[in-house]
Amino acid sequence: MSTSKKVVVIGGTGLVGSRAVTILRNAGHDVVVASSRNGINAFTGEGLEAALSGADAVIDVSNIVSYDEPVIRNFFATSTRNLTAAEKSASVRHHVVLSIVGTSDLSGNPYVSGKQAQEDAVQASGQDYTIVRATQFHEFMETLAEAYSADGAVNVPDIQFQPIAADDVAAALVSVALSKPHNGIVDLAGPDRAGFGELMRTYLAAKGDSRSVGVDAALGYFGAPVTATSLVPTGAFMQGQTALADWLRQQNHASQVEKA
Ligand SMILES: NC(=O)c1ccc[n+]([C@@H]2O[C@H](COP(=O)([O-])OP(=O)(O)OC[C@H]3O[C@@H](n4cnc5c(N)ncnc54)[C@H](OP(=O)(O)O)[C@@H]3O)[C@@H](O)[C@H]2O)c1
Repeated sequence: MSTSKKVVVIGGTGLVGSRAVTILRNAGHDVVVASSRNGINAFTGEGLEAALSGADAVIDVSNIVSYDEPVIRNFFATSTRNLTAAEKSASVRHHVVLSIVGTSDLSGNPYVSGKQAQEDAVQASGQDYTIVRATQFHEFMETLAEAYSADGAVNVPDIQFQPIAADDVAAALVSVALSKPHNGIVDLAGPDRAGFGELMRTYLAAKGDSRSVGVDAALGYFGAPVTATSLVPTGAFMQGQTALADWLRQQNHASQVEKA
């Protein structure tokens, strides 16, 4: 009997989604790469019925770039309602969505408020689901460095940090999607926990960026007040393999090969 499954990746052209698509294809699964530019739109519902027909699982890694909280909340809640309704009609077994570690405690951050609206819509849907909450991606360090820079220095909140590689996030999502639904929340983080400042120093040093890095207990996370453990798992969690320093070495190596 074939163990090949049909899996729909909503946001399958994005950073995490494209990696999940590759892992699924390499394992012999039938994958639908869903994105609005591919005519499959979670927010409007366009193309969902055909895309989900015969699917075993949906992995939702769609994203919106906006700073407007009502827009973000509406995007994630409406998309989730559309997806889970279409999944129930098509008897899809499992809805997997990627959220952020600490979401429930970071509602002062407009983007995370949108992720909470997404989680709430999943939990209210009646569809079997798993919410995977990941920590910040290694690939997100550059955005963080820019967001926290001022006057030629980088100052970050005085909190714990445990970033993860997008490749490891994608692998975890695939493994969860092909397993039984948890009907609950699973945390996911990288292998190394350290101070945000220390990991930011590691990142900037590897990039040859000589700006000084400080920590400031008064800083929050994009509008949300934080405590020491706001961005890290506080209980059991799935663990990615790739430490930030190893990932940085791989990136530097890849860019040197490209230049050669
Ligand atoms: N960055 C982090 O550190 C971090 C940490 C934890 C969790 N996350 C979560 O990770 C998820 C994925 O992030 P990412 O960086 O991989 O995203 P990304 O690279 O920005 O990709 C977003 C994807 O969503 C698709 N999309 C947007 N609107 C859509 C719609 N209406 N219907 C269908 N597809 C749509 C995009 O394709 P089109 O434009 O063609 O539609 C694209 O494929 C996000 O939900 C984010 O909250 C991020």
